[in-house]
Amino acid sequence: MIIALAAIIASGCSEPSEHDKNNPVHSLPEEAKGLDNPADASDESISDGAKLYKDYCLKCHGEAGNGLGPWADTTDPRAPALASDHLLGHGDGEIWWIIAKGSPGTSMPRYDSLIDEHRMWNIVNYIRSLANRN
Ligand code: HEC
Repeated sequence: MIIALAAIIASGCSEPSEHDKNNPVHSLPEEAKGLDNPADASDESISDGAKLYKDYCLKCHGEAGNGLGPWADTTDPRAPALASDHLLGHGDGEIWWIIAKGSPGTSMPRYDSLIDEHRMWNIVNYIRSLANRN
């Protein structure tokens, strides 16, 4: 079991150099890539995402996804910046998956029982808008 888990983690994300910088260790199943974002990136969607982000995510991932939240230093690994090239490399479905399911074995919690499924797509649109700005 431990060996199998190590294999899953090792086969996680495919950009090791980015991982050295930000430390994300998440692994994503194939089905995450195939998920289509059903929410238009409208102002309404992005502002709802921004509100949820402030409530649930800012304490770790920081203002506008800068990675400097008050808790960022206390998590394992350090909570990464979300306004990042690394994140732009992920499809919307993958970002949604990480929010919904968390990143097992790290401090990234899962939100699928706390936040409505559709509104998690609004968070994806908000995060995407941050990354595009930088
Ligand atoms: C308790 C701290 C904490 C909170 C709260 C938190 N996260 Fe995270 N998050 C992390 C950590 C630590 C990681 C790195 C996980 C890894 O390396 O696999 C992470 C990773 C991520 C990633 C992957 C980043 C990348 O570069 O690949 C995304 C996306 C993300 N979080 C979004 C969110 C969103 C959206 C919320 C709020 C709904 C949130 N997180 C709340 C700690 C947190």
